[in-house]
Amino acid sequence: MSTDKLIALLRANGQEHLLAFWDKLDAAEQGALAGQIEAIDFPLIRKLYAQRDHQAGMGELAARAEPPPAFRLNSDSNPFSAQQARDRGVQALRAGELGVILTAGGQGTRLGFHRPKGMYPIGPLSKKSLFQIHVEKIVAAARRYSVRIPLFIMTSPATHAETEAFFAEHGRFGLPEDDLMLFCQGTMPAVDERTGAVLLAAPSRIALSPDGHGGLLAALLGSGALERIENRKIRHLFYLQVDNPLVDICGPEFVGYHLLSGSEFSSQVVAKRDPLERVGNVVKVDGRLMVIEYSDLPEQAARRRNPDGSLAIWAGSIAVHVIDARLLRRVATQAESLPFHIARKKVPHVDPAGRRVEPSQPNALKFERFIFDLMPMARNAVVVEVDPVRAFSPLKNASGAKGDTPETVRAALIGQYRDWLCRAGVEVADDVAVEISPLYAMDAEELAAKVPRGMRIMEPTYLEV
Ligand code: UTP
Repeated sequence: MSTDKLIALLRANGQEHLLAFWDKLDAAEQGALAGQIEAIDFPLIRKLYAQRDHQAGMGELAARAEPPPAFRLNSDSNPFSAQQARDRGVQALRAGELGVILTAGGQGTRLGFHRPKGMYPIGPLSKKSLFQIHVEKIVAAARRYSVRIPLFIMTSPATHAETEAFFAEHGRFGLPEDDLMLFCQGTMPAVDERTGAVLLAAPSRIALSPDGHGGLLAALLGSGALERIENRKIRHLFYLQVDNPLVDICGPEFVGYHLLSGSEFSSQVVAKRDPLERVGNVVKVDGRLMVIEYSDLPEQAARRRNPDGSLAIWAGSIAVHVIDARLLRRVATQAESLPFHIARKKVPHVDPAGRRVEPSQPNALKFERFIFDLMPMARNAVVVEVDPVRAFSPLKNASGAKGDTPETVRAALIGQYRDWLCRAGVEVADDVAVEISPLYAMDAEELAAKVPRGMRIMEPTYLEV
């Protein structure tokens, strides 16, 4: 696009300030900035900005919210038993119908790690990265069911190059080349909260950030990953996010509940202990499942109780799903696809005088899509309750924060491995760290079949092949 056309485009959208430093940029910087400007959907940004104070009336929805159809833990009133579910899940796995989607495009700002979060060395003793732990689970599952399980990793411009290099450097942690596909999600610009002006992160650079994990649909379609999924006859996608190393990836029981229910989108949830817990709430409204974020849930609705005293809005999402490939295709190709959510954030930028501004208060709006907005569009969506101690420990914050830190995640991993060892009859001394490679054992049952009878662990031990 010529400079004149660029100016005309920006003028038409009231964003001329983006060229304020144009004459001071060299040719490469001008080219880069022009490319970023051309990629922005200005009418969309204008529309989203105009809607900033009119986000869906969640309060009203929350008042009418009912509990979602659920498979509860330790309940004998579930429509299918755990054994039936496991059998159905194993059948689908053996038929090679499963693929895995891992979203790893986030910027990990709270953690403050200078590389993609998936590269964080979380293994309590092995120091294996989150990526390696996830991939070894997939390799182990593929081996157990004698199939190929392809992994699709969504990165973003913030994480793509380093993630790609990391996997190449480590031989994809054992995953065959054909079974790994990295694809990059899109970005959205941040805008000034008061004016709607797109912010510049630097004189030659727009303040862009990844468009949310819901950017998955557009990225799957645009990168050809969805086509690859379909060509490989993958019918069900096990979805997880990079920060939770406790996920039982491709766990047959969860997959089985999804299939037996004829569901197109199933979610793992935990029973909230506190009505105001900071998790997304899965509810049913007008016959459709949806997530109401904790920030959108009015306190009165959050505290509502059933006659037996239990919480009415009880199901906290942990962002682990099984998704039908046909749902992905159907929604990805719809013009409106997933909605955008608007968040007020602190976004550093340069002001019109070229000075760097580091805001201490939220100054900008960011636009993100969320994967759970697929839920209301899915047929027969269900939730499956899991035990948070066994299934959920996300790495979000740096050491020293209240929770979800490297220390809490490592402690949760050690707790899981200790539990498996104890169930396998192994005596583990108090306060001794233990770790088990997914390639050694995927679960307590496999471990029990492997460890020597009468085994005792008295010092830090890493069990690996
Ligand atoms: P979070 O929303 O917790 O964000 O992402 P984050 O990037 O990990 O951390 P903060 O908020 O900047 O501190 C949950 C999951 O969704 C992925 C992340 O990589 C993580 O696996 N995600 C998030 C994306 O893939 N793309 C996005 O645009 C946002």
